[in-house]
Amino acid sequence: MESQKDVSKTESVNGLSNALNKNSEDIEFATESLAIIRNDILNLNSIKEGSVDLIVTSPPYNLDIKYGEYSDELPYEGYLEFTKKWLKKCYTLSKESGRLCLNIPLDKNKGGPQSMYADITEIAKSVGWRYHSTIIWNEGNISRRTAWGSWLSARAPYVIAPVEVIIVLYKGEWRKRETGLSSITPKEFIEWTKGVWTFNGESKIKIGHPAPFPVELPKRCIKLFSYVGDIVLDPFLGSGTTLIACSNENRIGIGVDIDKNYCKLAIERLKKIGVLQSKLEA
Ligand SMILES: C[S@@+](CC[C@H](N)C(=O)[O-])C[C@H]1O[C@@H](n2cnc3c(N)ncnc32)[C@H](O)[C@@H]1O
Repeated sequence: MESQKDVSKTESVNGLSNALNKNSEDIEFATESLAIIRNDILNLNSIKEGSVDLIVTSPPYNLDIKYGEYSDELPYEGYLEFTKKWLKKCYTLSKESGRLCLNIPLDKNKGGPQSMYADITEIAKSVGWRYHSTIIWNEGNISRRTAWGSWLSARAPYVIAPVEVIIVLYKGEWRKRETGLSSITPKEFIEWTKGVWTFNGESKIKIGHPAPFPVELPKRCIKLFSYVGDIVLDPFLGSGTTLIACSNENRIGIGVDIDKNYCKLAIERLKKIGVLQSKLEA
């Protein structure tokens, strides 16, 4: 176990500097293995193209959630255009062996029913991502129900699945050419490759962000789909959950959020778990 930590530490120092462009003004926080960047993912220049091993993220869902800087109620077509742009940007930031774990709802009912999962999968493929599989996240403690439509009548009943999905995509080839150290246990591997994950969502009040996911989600993606010391990016970092998982699992983590207050929140959460701020070596 000790040697595993040593490997990731040495690789971290080089890895993070290799992935970030020097003198980037938008880096809010950096240690030798974690960085938080405040920027619009669409305008981002501080991460080098072709440098990221794994992206784990949950973008805004366009459900009129009250975020700070970002308006979460675009017309559906506009939302899909935004989705296409950021998926393309992430594609350029990924290595050839790069992967993307994309957490979104299955369907959306607010403002009229939409097949979000189907639409976003098609868009991802149209910008170059290849489809690998879909994990169903059976979120134990949520109810997506807002109305019955027509109670006990076939007139217009609503059907809504209380689940989200994690679409697993990749850039070049699914089978990695490079070897590396995996940190997943046999029990985790058997459980998590089943493709239906059951664990609770995270409390907005406890975290202080309107839509956090639980650490369990990026933790599973990171352990299943990346090697120790790999570079993991979350382009919609929010409260910093993905970087907490990176820190726990010895991965190099880069998070981007457009909102200054969420960047601050993410920094506070990292400090609480003992991650210290330091100047990144140029
Ligand atoms: C669903 S939340 C992510 C929550 C995160 N997974 C967590 O656990 O806290 C989406 C985040 O994307 C951010 N955001 C929205 N538009 C953005 C953009 N264009 N570039 C970067 N961040 C953006 C919002 O400020 C919000 O914090």
